[in-house]
Amino acid sequence: MSQANKKPKILVARAIFPDLLAKLEQVAEVQSNQADAIWSSAEIKAAMMDKDGAIVTGSEKVDADMLDASPNLKIVSNIAVGYNNLDMPAFKARQVMATNTPDVLTETTADFGFTLLMATARRVTESEHWLRAGHWKKFSICDTPLAMDIHHSTLGIMGMGRIGQAIARRALGFGMKVRYYNRSRLSTELEKECGATYVDRETLLKESDHIILVMPYTPENHHLFGEKELAMMKPTATLVNIARGGIVDELALAKALKEKRIFAAGIDVFEGEPAVRPELLELKNIVLAPHIASATEKTRRAMIELAIENCLAGIAGKTPPNLLS
Ligand code: GLV
Repeated sequence: MSQANKKPKILVARAIFPDLLAKLEQVAEVQSNQADAIWSSAEIKAAMMDKDGAIVTGSEKVDADMLDASPNLKIVSNIAVGYNNLDMPAFKARQVMATNTPDVLTETTADFGFTLLMATARRVTESEHWLRAGHWKKFSICDTPLAMDIHHSTLGIMGMGRIGQAIARRALGFGMKVRYYNRSRLSTELEKECGATYVDRETLLKESDHIILVMPYTPENHHLFGEKELAMMKPTATLVNIARGGIVDELALAKALKEKRIFAAGIDVFEGEPAVRPELLELKNIVLAPHIASATEKTRRAMIELAIENCLAGIAGKTPPNLLS
């Protein structure tokens, strides 16, 4: 804390639910961005420099320069499970704590992963647009948007952390064969519980009917999913990304979808979000969502509450529940 017996100074870099902000204000001197403006790096740096703790979302990049300018800063608490927006080596080097919000969003995010998978394979949004455009003149067996089955198909999950496992459990209910690829293999018990078989990346790409990306975004997996990987997929397969935009080479994806080299894609995260490439926007065989996998009110509230808990613990010199470094 800046001065003994004074309330700690906390930055809340984006809008949060007013009642949660009011609760935080009882114990801290808070500067909050309730206008939800997108701040530049310079603005974040200026707002952070006199703070003891900061609560940010995945949209705010926190780098070494900001940490160097904030001598009292003990902790940056992310309202997200992914933390590729935080320069972790810089945090480690300066002994500033970083935290995220795992667990509270697992089931909600897995629900949405499955929603997007089903909407993509069953051409839900495309069919709705077709209907709204007045193309539905008669019931037709063949002249209708024909889709791909989910049940008893093969699902390939890339990234088998908590969310990947929760998706696998859902897939079991649809009689799907679940294959996964991960940096490390699950225990035999967990594999059994998820009904999931470990395969190498190539097998997953070649044999899956549906692929879902749920791994963390690191410099190593930037554009991991590009032209080569897309070419290995079945032409009838779908690709769903609820991880991070930078994992997929979006231009290669747009080309593969345009040339019908894969059946369809469902994308919740974009490399330059909130900007979406026109090459993706002009396609029919893609379902686009504005980064909403964890977006239920209950879960977003739980994420904020956990981020506040992490931040206050770090400032108080305790180990935050979700300490990353
Ligand atoms: C959302 O993308 C998150 O990382 O929580």
